Amino acid sequence: MYNEIDLDKIDLNSEFPTEEPKRQYHFMAKGQKWVREFEYKNNRRPCFFIQTFGCQMNEHDSETIAGMLRTEGFTETENRESADIIVVNTCSIRENADNRFFGQLGSMKKIKEENPEAIIAVCGCMMQQQHITDTIKEKYSWVDIIFGTMNIYKFPELLRNCLENRKKIISIYDAQEKIIEGLPVERKFRHKSFVNIMNGCNNFCTYCIVPYTRGRERSRMPEDIIREIRALADDGVKEVTLLGQNVNSYGNNCNFDCDFSELIYKINEIERIERIRFMTSHPKDLSDRLIRAFADCEKLCRHIHLPVQSGSTDVLRRMNRRYSKEDYLNLIEKIRTAVPNMAITTDIIVGFPGETEEDFEHTLDLAERVRYDSAFTFLYSIRTGTPAAKYEDQVSEEIKHARFDRLVEVINRITAEKNAEYFGKTVKVMVDGKSARNDKGTYAGRTDTFKLVNFNADEDLTGKTVDIKITDAKTFSLFGEIV
Ligand code: SAH
Ligand code: SF4
Ligand code: F3S
Repeated sequence: MYNEIDLDKIDLNSEFPTEEPKRQYHFMAKGQKWVREFEYKNNRRPCFFIQTFGCQMNEHDSETIAGMLRTEGFTETENRESADIIVVNTCSIRENADNRFFGQLGSMKKIKEENPEAIIAVCGCMMQQQHITDTIKEKYSWVDIIFGTMNIYKFPELLRNCLENRKKIISIYDAQEKIIEGLPVERKFRHKSFVNIMNGCNNFCTYCIVPYTRGRERSRMPEDIIREIRALADDGVKEVTLLGQNVNSYGNNCNFDCDFSELIYKINEIERIERIRFMTSHPKDLSDRLIRAFADCEKLCRHIHLPVQSGSTDVLRRMNRRYSKEDYLNLIEKIRTAVPNMAITTDIIVGFPGETEEDFEHTLDLAERVRYDSAFTFLYSIRTGTPAAKYEDQVSEEIKHARFDRLVEVINRITAEKNAEYFGKTVKVMVDGKSARNDKGTYAGRTDTFKLVNFNADEDLTGKTVDIKITDAKTFSLFGEIV
């Protein structure tokens, strides 16, 4: 774990600091004492269960929550029913994300009835919306702690208050003045890690809830990022994925002089780091310097996720994306010229308000011309509070679904064709672990172009980079043999 601190050295009789994260370390020390008493009484450690919805940002936030709980001495359980603390980290990007959460919350009533001592905490993007927290307060009385995306660092304090006073805690911040550095973070893999480089988003695409749930853009100081990655490298990490809603605007309006491409050049120098990835970049401000970084920095993986959202210039304008179909195609051309083997993936929304058949055909045309390695396709979902929710010309569900199916067919055909190009080639694969198919002896890993490769091995090669000859190519994965 990154950033472990000896809690036994903290004097709990001293006044609690106001400065963060020092203050939270005091609460973690208090928590540790509570955990020890719990263990003495119950002959076991208390355990936590975290369920995470949404994007990598949320996954990474959950890693921070897990890191803080582990620092106190909690253990993790896979079994929600037996957990002493349940945390649900929510996403609000589409309506079905909201619905799934409320379904989960409903099912937790029984857990609380059977174990009234259990703490149920909910956090994440949904909690930054008043109508959601109002609903929880009104209908889901078994929730003990509600907190948001801007005060995750305060979780140890909120948990202590809840446990000591046995009262409901609701703590949501509208904004975050400063990024809190130095919290304990747990990670899922030994050999790879997420690294947050910025929070928030200033783009206000008209369909999107994120600027409201994550607040304004805030970049971490480059030296803090570099220090973290060096520590991760010392701890065995070989691959880092830099996270931000729009990494291309890293460093904008900051009191330091380092843009995203410069940050990449710096990370490229860090010893033992073998691969650098990032998510996500907005096409409107992808710089020539970043494209050059792909050519210059050997550790920067040849994959870019460049969400286009629509192929129609008119729809793009109403989405407030600030580029046209031609701008996007020119950008792709520029990238392909500079880095010929670049894998390009995207996100596409179907059925944005006012999308005509002609608009949609522009999307199909763009998909054919770019030839994406893969794409996430979404049905437009109305998000309360966003401008597009009020647009009058909403597309019917029937048309949305029909277009969605047509688009997926094109995307999948191209993905399969792209994968077929790998047939017979030998590629370098960084092994993530046992394959999700969980066959005995089948391992899975990624090429630098982010292709999923399965292969058989007699020994556990997790974290190693191996040469694999591709012997079979499917739509969503490749299969190969160690050479
Ligand atoms: N910051 C990233 C996107 C994060 S959200 C970016 O701009 O690239 C991930 C994806 O969810 C978006 O790219 C978009 O395709 C999709 N999405 C966002 N809001 C949506 C909505 N209201 N309905 C459907 N899809 C949506
Ligand atoms: Fe949402 Fe647009 Fe910001 Fe991405 S860039 S998070 S789609 S508002
Ligand atoms: Fe969802 Fe929030 Fe991420 S809305 S997609 S978890 S930033």
